[in-house]
Amino acid sequence: MEIASTVIELREKIQAWKKKGLKIGFVPTMGYLHEGHLSLVRESKKSSDVTVVSIFVNPKQFGPAEDYRTYPRDLERDRALLEREGVDLVFYPPVEVMYPEGYKTYVEVEDLQDKLCGKSRPGHFRGVCTVVLKLFNLVQPDEAHFGWKDAQQVIILQKMVEDLNLPVKIVPLPLVRDHDGLALSSRNTYLSREERQAALVLKKSLDLAEKLIREGEKDAAKIRQKMIELISTEPLARIDYVEVVNLKTLERLETIEGQVLVALAVFIGRTRLIDNLRIVSGGIEK
Ligand code: PAF
Repeated sequence: MEIASTVIELREKIQAWKKKGLKIGFVPTMGYLHEGHLSLVRESKKSSDVTVVSIFVNPKQFGPAEDYRTYPRDLERDRALLEREGVDLVFYPPVEVMYPEGYKTYVEVEDLQDKLCGKSRPGHFRGVCTVVLKLFNLVQPDEAHFGWKDAQQVIILQKMVEDLNLPVKIVPLPLVRDHDGLALSSRNTYLSREERQAALVLKKSLDLAEKLIREGEKDAAKIRQKMIELISTEPLARIDYVEVVNLKTLERLETIEGQVLVALAVFIGRTRLIDNLRIVSGGIEK
């Protein structure tokens, strides 16, 4: 497994693969990898000839009061995990390589970027889209793998790819949960033992939504209200949002119909966690 830190090193490798006609799979990450990331890597390895993983904690997607500086980082651990998975190349650029002095260009997906997480994290998706487009231009992948855990990110990146005619297929994959149901996230490391227990309320509220939907409840406001009531019983939880929206437009729904996203963001102590379930033609996924 090679590690490239500069654009020149990365391009050399990519061009050699392109010349040979190899299919390139890509998994963009911010590092501190867990089973969720590794599931994306495994999928990429199955469907592509070579797999590139980027590790870059992107300062442009963090707000001024957010955890950019304290975001967990451990390259040696990540490198060992990726080596074991048989990844071909890790792109690990320093901030100056991605954003040299005088950097001025940004990508925005209007409207979608302002809903759900975008409401409480202004500028977040502008940062995500900008870095992902830059990474796509550098890595030139045929397929890029993202987890459904960040459902809004998936929807927005699909729109960016469609609108900008990017020659890459976004492949969303199921979110991965810990044995007790908590969705895996690098930020779970912030939780104390007590908070870790309290955090299970996110999944419990989605279980409740699933139960209500399976029993035939169609009123989105009722489902939302019951989820809010359940989360409010947890003293360490503070709701950022609980929403029932259309899975493509992210517009709030009155009735459960078509493709639906039930999404929530909840602070457990100082840690903001997100989770979701999706209703698609094949059934309920969470
Ligand atoms: O999902 C993430 O880890 C990040 O938002 C991404 C896609 C790597 C962009 O920085």
